[in-house]
Amino acid sequence: HVKIKLYKHTTYYIQKLWKSNVKKSDTKQPSYAEVESQVSFEQMVEARRQEAQRSVLVQVHSEESCPDLRQYCNQHGEVRGMHHYSLPPDLHFVVVEFEDSAHVHNILNVSGHINKEVVPVQSPFLWFRAPKKASQSKQDFSPQAHVEAPSTEELQNWMNAAQSLSDQLLVLHRVTALNDLGSRLRFLTARQIELALAGLFPHVKALPFGSSVNGFGRATCDLDVVLLPDCEVPSDDCRLVFHAKAALMGGRPQTQRLMETLGDVCQLLLPGCSHVRRVLQARVPIIKFKHELTGIECDLSLDNDTAVHMSALLYTLGTSDPRVRPLVGAVRRWAREVGLTNPAPGRWITNFSLTLLVLFYLQQHGVLPLLGATGDVVRLPGSVKTDLAALFTGFFEFYASFDFASYAVSLSSKVEVPKPDHAPLYIVNPLERGLNVSRNVSRDETERLRVELRNAAWLLESVPLDPGTAKSWGLAALLEAPHAAAKGRNIFYIPPRRSTPSRMMDVTELFDKSTVEMQQHTE
Ligand code: CTP
Ligand code: MG
Repeated sequence: HVKIKLYKHTTYYIQKLWKSNVKKSDTKQPSYAEVESQVSFEQMVEARRQEAQRSVLVQVHSEESCPDLRQYCNQHGEVRGMHHYSLPPDLHFVVVEFEDSAHVHNILNVSGHINKEVVPVQSPFLWFRAPKKASQSKQDFSPQAHVEAPSTEELQNWMNAAQSLSDQLLVLHRVTALNDLGSRLRFLTARQIELALAGLFPHVKALPFGSSVNGFGRATCDLDVVLLPDCEVPSDDCRLVFHAKAALMGGRPQTQRLMETLGDVCQLLLPGCSHVRRVLQARVPIIKFKHELTGIECDLSLDNDTAVHMSALLYTLGTSDPRVRPLVGAVRRWAREVGLTNPAPGRWITNFSLTLLVLFYLQQHGVLPLLGATGDVVRLPGSVKTDLAALFTGFFEFYASFDFASYAVSLSSKVEVPKPDHAPLYIVNPLERGLNVSRNVSRDETERLRVELRNAAWLLESVPLDPGTAKSWGLAALLEAPHAAAKGRNIFYIPPRRSTPSRMMDVTELFDKSTVEMQQHTE
């Protein structure tokens, strides 16, 4: 029952796309997986952007305020749906989606500020105050409730109750993948930034990229947003052109100053944005902040369209075979459980690099095509029928014997390519071939990756891979192992020794110390 509920939950959006994509005359209804693979990255992003343009986020006293809020909103537009969630300690929010973006316009026009002591900005983030006189609303209405991410214990129980290792991998994927509400909140957060800048830059788009949109996101993943110009060059018939200041042709100092200004806008003006940090010396300068109303960590960057193309590429590869996303999700989860990845930036492997490792492995096994010189797909996927479980165990076997010391991983080469430099781990950036996406990974961390891959390969040979008498088996046993080992309870798993103690690293250590200047501003 729980699985069905979660399945419905995660496929809600696909159902909607399915409805809007399938022609009325179609007699055979395609499965959700088929439909999802038919929706391109651009279509998905556009549908989500439009949804965000039709939506506002409203803080309410409790879920019980929803009928009243719905009635109020219906006076100014037509409500299509309401999605409730809560954040600790006991804060309640509703995403209200209207039928038309004009209705959002109406709602914002009739909304006001609590008093003159606040910065009077308009944004789609609102709160619903108690009525002067008791509410008349008698409607019996429940907003769409959203299932919280499961606890580790719940997840273990569900996985141990599965039928097979493949089933476990699918359960993990369904309950931890970024859901409909998660996507809505991320696009709405991007919309807030876009609207804030719209007066000066009506044609600048704030586009989510990375795991929020590439199909490999989890419920708690960060939001990477990029600001990109969306201006058309005027035709010769266009006689009036804007007076404008000369651009400094995208010089790095100018980008850094602009980012700093954007950081100030977020920190001083945008409701919900807090803990603003400026990381301006990175290869791609970013502004980091936490959005208090959505609970999402955000990284804002400028003009980084390669990252959007990368997201499109990963999305396309993720939808080209139903085994890709569950496999990537499970490997990412495993890496987190054994402590290979860490949300803080540092000398360890990132989820993005891990994803590329999985994709390369799937190419080697004919599940995915190779990429062409410009990142396009040059060969259709082979019809390899290996099941998900075999691909999962095969992943660890493959990399347990991979010679990371001599070879690089490249999504456009069938064979391992010799490493072009001495980086301990070399994963060729599929869109900018001269770059190594795992340049940050140290020798120690590469060694730890190798040892953990071998440990996992060995563990998967030692534990039962089917439900039987063992309490914990398959994926559940693999994910539990490091925790059980820490308590001295696992005979199969010996955590690798670290030659230097693992520590959280300040992000500035990644860059040239002499030039680093990271300003930390908190509210
Ligand atoms: N990216 C890139 N080159 C890199 C690092 C990142 O092109 N060397 C792009 C990728 O599109 C990546 C995105 O930036 O997906 C965001 O990076 P990051 O937040 O590190 O990875 P995510 O894929 O978003 O994964 P996570 O869930 O850990 O945030
Ligand atoms: Mg990210």
